[in-house]
Amino acid sequence: MNPRILLVIVSCVLSVLTGLVISRGGGSGPATRTRPLIGLSMDTLKEERWQKDRDLFVAEAGKLGADVEVLSANSSDTRQLADVEALITRKVDALVIIPKDAAAMAKAVNLAHQAHIPVLAYDRLITGCDLDLYITFDNVKVGELQAQFLAERLPATGKMRLLRIYGAKTDNNAKLFKQGQDHVLQPLIAAGKVEVLHEDWADDWKPENAKKIINAAITKHGPNFDAILASNDGTAGGAIQALTEEGIAGKVIVTGQDADLAACQRIVQGTQTMTIYKPLHLLSKQAAALAVRLAQHRPIIARDVSPNGQTDVPSVFLPIHSVTKDNLRDTVVKDGLVTEKDVFGR
Ligand code: BGC
Repeated sequence: MNPRILLVIVSCVLSVLTGLVISRGGGSGPATRTRPLIGLSMDTLKEERWQKDRDLFVAEAGKLGADVEVLSANSSDTRQLADVEALITRKVDALVIIPKDAAAMAKAVNLAHQAHIPVLAYDRLITGCDLDLYITFDNVKVGELQAQFLAERLPATGKMRLLRIYGAKTDNNAKLFKQGQDHVLQPLIAAGKVEVLHEDWADDWKPENAKKIINAAITKHGPNFDAILASNDGTAGGAIQALTEEGIAGKVIVTGQDADLAACQRIVQGTQTMTIYKPLHLLSKQAAALAVRLAQHRPIIARDVSPNGQTDVPSVFLPIHSVTKDNLRDTVVKDGLVTEKDVFGR
């Protein structure tokens, strides 16, 4: 019997008994290796957050006695698949993947499994495969908090005229952010309190694509809108450039996500209104601990599951926070993600 099937049966029995889901990997590196080797395959290092994710992950894995080989695919599916193949050839004991394309990376997971290497999806889900484990933030909640922020700032009379920028269509998270936003917005749209004037997906999450979306909205409707629901800080930055060129930066509510340094600075300056802070130190540390356990074939307890179209993937969800000028110090600065001096200039 396929050992993976046996694991699924064990997992089912244990979940009935304890209400938990157990996931266990089966990788096996060369006998001469004394420290586990983890392969980290990243979509991109473009956004500031991913550089932090990488550094924190590698440092934590090192503390736990493991080595990490990191490859970044520069937003190319072909390159990411080749990266994973290279890591499999290196006989890594566990693979951690931040997929560019949720569906395309199923092939990478299947290849890893053929080589008996367990796979942990980091922050972004991989769909349509027998993924071992997933660690992330509550991404639907991210979208809900972004939209809730707008819902609490509706104009006293009339409707809030809104532009919406979604993320990359290929990123499962982008769909979850939209789903969360829709939960909050749809009743307000139905009640005539919010009108969406323009909406679009920003390919590859690129700020320049977000800017084009806002430029197109301005061409169509003029600068007559109250808020931009940007799904992350990168796209918020692109949107704010368009607003600056139009002379209305600071007059329009702009949301974001990631607490990038540039976004925190914009929040202090008043051109961006909020961001969602996702404590990356928690994600990267827990992910490193989980990856090391997978590499060492030790059992893992995950309390949640994420359906990925093929299976219910054992999942770990971490908390998130809505951040404005008022609580920047008590959250992002306090946790050391950015410094007081970098954000406030003193
Ligand atoms: C992440 C965001 C990030 C975006 C673009 C999403 O999957 O959850 O934190 O801003 O990708 O890289």
